[in-house]
Amino acid sequence: MEYKIKLNGASRTVDVDGDTPLLWVLRDVLNMSGTKFGCGLALCGACTVHREGQPIRSCVTPIESVGQAAITTIEAIGQSAVGKRIQLAWLEQQVPQCGYCQSGQIMAASALLATKPNPTDKEIDEAMAGNICRCGTYVRIKAAIKLAASGAPLPAARAAA
Ligand code: FES
Ligand code: FES
Repeated sequence: MEYKIKLNGASRTVDVDGDTPLLWVLRDVLNMSGTKFGCGLALCGACTVHREGQPIRSCVTPIESVGQAAITTIEAIGQSAVGKRIQLAWLEQQVPQCGYCQSGQIMAASALLATKPNPTDKEIDEAMAGNICRCGTYVRIKAAIKLAASGAPLPAARAAA
């Protein structure tokens, strides 16, 4: 069946079964590999995307449930001011190790700062608790979120690095 979705500001039409997870649509149908498959069970956060600005687990989101909600993925997060600032802070803090979890981490962090520009430590911990990093980059993730929230200048030149 055909589904028309709003993805990163554009309309996309896909022909899949209604119970196909959004993650599969992104990666296997639309060839957008930025969003990662980790557990497939809503347990790790690697597949996090935004639905109307809120973080969701795309691995357990059937395409038939998406409707006309605006979906944003890591490929477009830099188009928002908050998303760009998170990306620059990630670079500044050199957050990633293997990188596998990082698109999900950035999506979760961007959603947090979009609704809470100055989150407390507790709010950061709560917002990021569902995003697992097997490389243990948690300390740098938290530092990067705080840096992004601080309003401190971030070197824009690094955006292209
Ligand atoms: S792959 Fe979706 S939460 Fe792990
Ligand atoms: S950077 Fe390797 S899993 Fe997070």
